[in-house]
Amino acid sequence: MSPPPGTAHLRLGVNIDHVATVRNARGAGYPDPVRAALVAAAAGADGITAHLREDRRHITDDDIARLSTELAIPLNLEMAATDEMLGIALRHRPHAACIVPEKREELTTEGGLDVAGHYDRMARLVDALAGAGIRVSLFIEPDARQIEAAVRLKVPVVELHTGRYAELSGDARSVELRRLEDAAALAAKNGIEVHAGHGLTYDNVAPIAAIRQVRELNIGHFLVGEALFVGLGEAVRRMREAMDAAR
Ligand code: PXP
Repeated sequence: MSPPPGTAHLRLGVNIDHVATVRNARGAGYPDPVRAALVAAAAGADGITAHLREDRRHITDDDIARLSTELAIPLNLEMAATDEMLGIALRHRPHAACIVPEKREELTTEGGLDVAGHYDRMARLVDALAGAGIRVSLFIEPDARQIEAAVRLKVPVVELHTGRYAELSGDARSVELRRLEDAAALAAKNGIEVHAGHGLTYDNVAPIAAIRQVRELNIGHFLVGEALFVGLGEAVRRMREAMDAAR
């Protein structure tokens, strides 16, 4: 379904980390996250997201190498703000890299990356990634202070953390939704492309998909769980429909 006139296409990035979680639970070679990525792509995913964690608890270096060569759609590498991850990103040159917090001290109280509090380290990483032609994104809370830091860093993209929104209900969820809407507007006004993700499901995706400035959603855990019941391709197609209906 094409989006209504005046509303930009909302991309769906499918995060395949937890296919690797299941694989690694038994130390076997299956299920293969690269196969999952190819199924998601065939079902209409616009991109694939994978987080190579410092402890390699799900995605491995070999998965990133294979995703880099086998995918025909863009790869978004989620990475901690470390020199090791920078080296890996520069070696594989994914389409995009999203810098995410992995250590407690890098977190804001709500859970996004504290860009404002680690400005100099972020500046060094952002410059190195951007210099290699990688589209840099920062995974942040919907917070004006973090967005202002992102503006100063001249990143092209921020990904707004929807984890709190997903956990809350009732009025508290409405308040958090308003924060996300305001943050999306502030980022877009400053020329930053807005993505969003974490904890999104069929039931809670619509209000986020309806935020006009949001251009991409990254969704993983729910889709991998739903794949157990309907298959990954069908889960991706249903999420796509839910997103398009909300747009
Ligand atoms: N966006 C970012 C930056 C993430 O780190 C993750 C995974 O935690 C997601 C989106 C996807 O979240 P979920 O697996 O809850 O859909």
